[in-house]
Amino acid sequence: MNIAEAPAQPQITRLDDYRAPDYLIDTVSLEFELDASETRVSSKLKMRRNPEGQGGPCILNGEYLTLVSIALDGKTLAGNEYQRTTDTLLLPQVPASFELEVVTLIHPDQNTALEGLYHSGAILCTQCEAEGFRRITYYPDRPDVMAVFTVTLIADAKKWPMLLANGNRQASGEMEDGRHWVRWHDPHPKPSYLFALVAGDLYCQQDQFTTMSGRQVLLEIYVDPENHNKCDHALNSLKQAMRWDEDVYGREYDLDVFMIVAVNDFNMGAMENKGLNIFNAACVLASPETATDADFYTIQSIVGHEYFHNWSGNRVTCRDWFQLSLKEGFTVLRDQQFSADMNSAAVQRIDDVDQLRSMQFAEDAGPMAHPVRPDSYIEISNFYTVTIYEKGAEVVGMLKTLTGPEGFRKGTDLYFSRHDGQAVTTDDFVKAIEDANQLDLTQFKRWYSQAGTPVLIVEAHYDADKQVLELTLRQSCPATPGQPEKQPFVIPVAMGLLSSSGASLPLQLDTETSAVDAETRVLTLTEQSQTFRFIHLTEEPVVSVLRGFSAPVKVKFERDNETLAFLMAHDRDSFNRWDAGQQLLIQIMLRMVEQYQSDKTLDLPEILLDRLQHVLDDPSIDPALVARMLSLPSENYLAAQMTIADVDAIHAVRKYVKQQIAQRLKAGFNTRYQALNQAQVYEFNASQMAQRSLKNVCLGYLMATGDPMQTQRCLKQMKQADNMTDLLAGLRLMVDQPGPEREHALRAFYEQWQHDRQVVDKWLTVQAVSDLPDALFRVKALLKHPAFSMKNPNNVRALIGQFCRNNPVHFHAKDGSGYRFLAEQILLLDKLNPQVAARQLGAFNSWRRYDAERQALMKKSLSDIAGAQDLSADVYEIVNKYLA
Ligand code: PHE
Ligand code: ZN
Repeated sequence: MNIAEAPAQPQITRLDDYRAPDYLIDTVSLEFELDASETRVSSKLKMRRNPEGQGGPCILNGEYLTLVSIALDGKTLAGNEYQRTTDTLLLPQVPASFELEVVTLIHPDQNTALEGLYHSGAILCTQCEAEGFRRITYYPDRPDVMAVFTVTLIADAKKWPMLLANGNRQASGEMEDGRHWVRWHDPHPKPSYLFALVAGDLYCQQDQFTTMSGRQVLLEIYVDPENHNKCDHALNSLKQAMRWDEDVYGREYDLDVFMIVAVNDFNMGAMENKGLNIFNAACVLASPETATDADFYTIQSIVGHEYFHNWSGNRVTCRDWFQLSLKEGFTVLRDQQFSADMNSAAVQRIDDVDQLRSMQFAEDAGPMAHPVRPDSYIEISNFYTVTIYEKGAEVVGMLKTLTGPEGFRKGTDLYFSRHDGQAVTTDDFVKAIEDANQLDLTQFKRWYSQAGTPVLIVEAHYDADKQVLELTLRQSCPATPGQPEKQPFVIPVAMGLLSSSGASLPLQLDTETSAVDAETRVLTLTEQSQTFRFIHLTEEPVVSVLRGFSAPVKVKFERDNETLAFLMAHDRDSFNRWDAGQQLLIQIMLRMVEQYQSDKTLDLPEILLDRLQHVLDDPSIDPALVARMLSLPSENYLAAQMTIADVDAIHAVRKYVKQQIAQRLKAGFNTRYQALNQAQVYEFNASQMAQRSLKNVCLGYLMATGDPMQTQRCLKQMKQADNMTDLLAGLRLMVDQPGPEREHALRAFYEQWQHDRQVVDKWLTVQAVSDLPDALFRVKALLKHPAFSMKNPNNVRALIGQFCRNNPVHFHAKDGSGYRFLAEQILLLDKLNPQVAARQLGAFNSWRRYDAERQALMKKSLSDIAGAQDLSADVYEIVNKYLA
C-alpha cells in the first residue's frame, strides 16, 4: 500500500477525455455503524468488466478515508495486491466479475466541508453530489455507474432513533448493546451521487398521496422537534408538485415513500437523493410568523424542483458532470412552469428574467463565463452556476417555444421512455425532441456549446406608401474565455405590432397569403442578419419584440422615452409592459448618472413620473405587477449597463429618483397603502402576496419622502404585523434610517426571534445590506456575535455574502476596505468549507469593470488569495480564472 503525493496543481478534467467506465457495478450493499466521531463503513460491491470499456485496471475513488480492509471474492488482499494514492484505489488484477469488500472509517464530526457524511446539529447526514460519495467509501464515483443499493444503518437507539436511507424500508431490529438497525432497499439503479442517509432524533409529519395509477405513497417530512409547526407548507407544495408532474409531464412517483429532511448546515438549497430529499432548513421550513412571502414562494419551487428530479435527474441521469444542465436546466424549467401554474405566470416570468439578467448575464460577461455544457473544469462544484441552471432552463424553454407545448411534451415523453434507467447527454435530450418533432436542431445546439450572451439588434423602418414595415434582426455574441469567435444562434423572437391606440395589428409577412391568427408570433433568427417584411399596415406600428423574453439575449433597439412609455401602458404582453418600464428607467437613470458625473442638474423626465402615476392608480393591473413596475432596477444591474461602473453615482441617482417619485406620487402611495393594509389571516396565495408586495413598495416610497409621520407608520406596521413579510419589510426600511429608532427596532427584533435560525439570518442580512455608513463596521462586529458561526453556510451567506453582493456602495468603498474584508474571510472559510469559500469569490466577478483604482485594489485582494498556501481546488480555480 502506497500513498503518493497529491498533485502540486489541481488537475483539469475535459469533456473530450470522457471514456466509458472500465468496470460496472450491479449491486451495492453498505453497512454503516454510525457514530459522530467515527463511523465504520463496510461495502460489498458486485462488479464486472464493462464490455464497452477500454480494458483498463479497476480504479476506485476515495478521499479522506481510513482503510481497514479489502477483500476480493472473500479473500483479504495484502498491501502489495493494491495501490493507493490520496484519492484512488487501484486493483491491478481482478477477474471479469467479482465481489469486492471494503471496510473504511470516516469522521463526521471533523467534516466541515459538508460533503460526504457529516454532523449538523443533532443530525448525521450525507451530501454526495457531485463527488462526495468518495468521502464515504471507495467507489467508482461517477454518474454513469448505476447500481442497486441495499443499505443497513446501525446506531445507538436513543441518540439516533430515526435511521433513513434511499428507497423502501425493508427490515429493522434491536441489538443487545442498545443499538438498533434499519435496512433500506432502493430497487431503482442509481449513481452514487444520489445516495443518502440520515440519522437523528427528529419530529416526523406524515401525509399520503395517491398516484395517477392509484398507488398509495407515504409522504414524510423530518425536522428538528422545535420546528414541528413549520412543515405544512412544504408538505402541501410536495402534493401539488406530485399532481402537477402527473398532469403536465405524465410522470408518476415510483417508491412507497417519499421523505424530506431539513438540516441546518447545507452547502446548497436542497438535494434530490432518491426518495430521501435533504433540504437546507431555510428552503423547507415555513410559518407565517417566521417566513416571508418570498420564502414561501421559494420553498414551493424548491420542493417542486427536487421532486421533479425524480424523473429529470434520477430515472434519467447524467453521463458525466459536463451534462449537469441536462438535469438542472430541464428541472429548473419544470419548477418555473410549476410555480407559474400555482401562482401568477406573468410575475413568475418577470422574476425569473430579472434574476437571469442580473446574475447570469454578469457571469456570461465575466472571467468564469462557460457554456451550458462546459468543456472543462478543475472543480465540478464550481459549475453549479446560474449558467447551468438558469440559462440552461432558458435553452430548454426555447426548445419548448420552437416545438409548441404539444410537440415539447411528445419530445419529453420520448426522452423519458427511451432513456429510463440510463445516464445520458444533452445531445440525447435534444435528439429526443428532434425525433418526436421531425426537426433538425443541429444549429440550435450551439446554445449548449457557445458561452456568452448574444446581442439582438433590432431596426424597424416603416414605408407609408407601401404600407410595409421592415424589421431587421441582427445578432452578435461577444468573445468569452477560450471562445474568440461565435457562430450564429437560433433565436426565437416572439413579437407583435401595435397601433397608436394600443390595438394589435395583423402580422402578415410578404411571403404569406394571410395574417397569422394571433397577436404574437415567433420569428426565428438563424442568420447573422435577417429582414422580415410585414405588409398591409395602414399606420406606422409600434414594435414589441422578445415578448415573454423568448430568448436569453440582450436587446438593442433604439426607442425614445415616449415609445417605451407607450409600450409600458399598452403592450399586450405583461412581461413586455414591465420590461418597457425597466428599459425606460434604465435609459433615464443612465443619463442622470452622466449628469451627476459632470455636476449637472439631474433631470427626471415628466413622462416617467406620469406613467408611474398611471400604473399606481390603475386598479385593473395585478398589484404584484404594479409593485414590480414601480421597483427601480438594482444598483448592480445599472452598473452592469455601464462601460465603467460608477457605484457612487449610481447610488446617488437611484436614491434621488426614488425620492422624486415618492414626493410626486405621495398621495397615490398613501391611498394604496391604506387600501391594502387590511387585517386578514395570512394565507400563501398569489392574491395576498400581490397585496403585501405592493403595500410594502408603497411604504418604501412613503419612507423615502423623509416625513417623520411615515416612520411612525412603519413602526406601527411592524408592531401590528402577524407575519414576517410585513415585519421584515418594516425592519428593512427602519435600518436604512439613522437614529435611535433604528437601533431599537434591531434590538427588539433580535430579542423576539433569537431562538429561530431562519429569522436570525434575516436579521444579519438587513444589517449587511444597510445603506448607512457603518455597514462594514457592523458586519465585522456581527462576525463575533453568538448568533454567527463561520461553519454555518447560511450564516455566511446572510452576512458576508449579502454585504459583498448586495451592498455595492460599501463593498466597493474607495479605500478597498470591503475587498480586503472579503479576501480575509475567503481565506478563513477555505480552511473550513472550500465550496462556500469559492462561492463568495463571485462578488469579485466583475472586477475589471470598475475604475482603475478600484481595479487595482480588487486585483491586490485577488492576488493575496491566489498567493496563499494550500488553497482548495475550488478557490484555486476561480481566483486564477479571475486573474487570467
Ligand atoms: N442537485 C441539487 C439541485 O439543484 C443541488 C446540489 C448540488 C445540492 C450539489 C448539493 C450539492 O437540486
Ligand atoms: Zn436541481
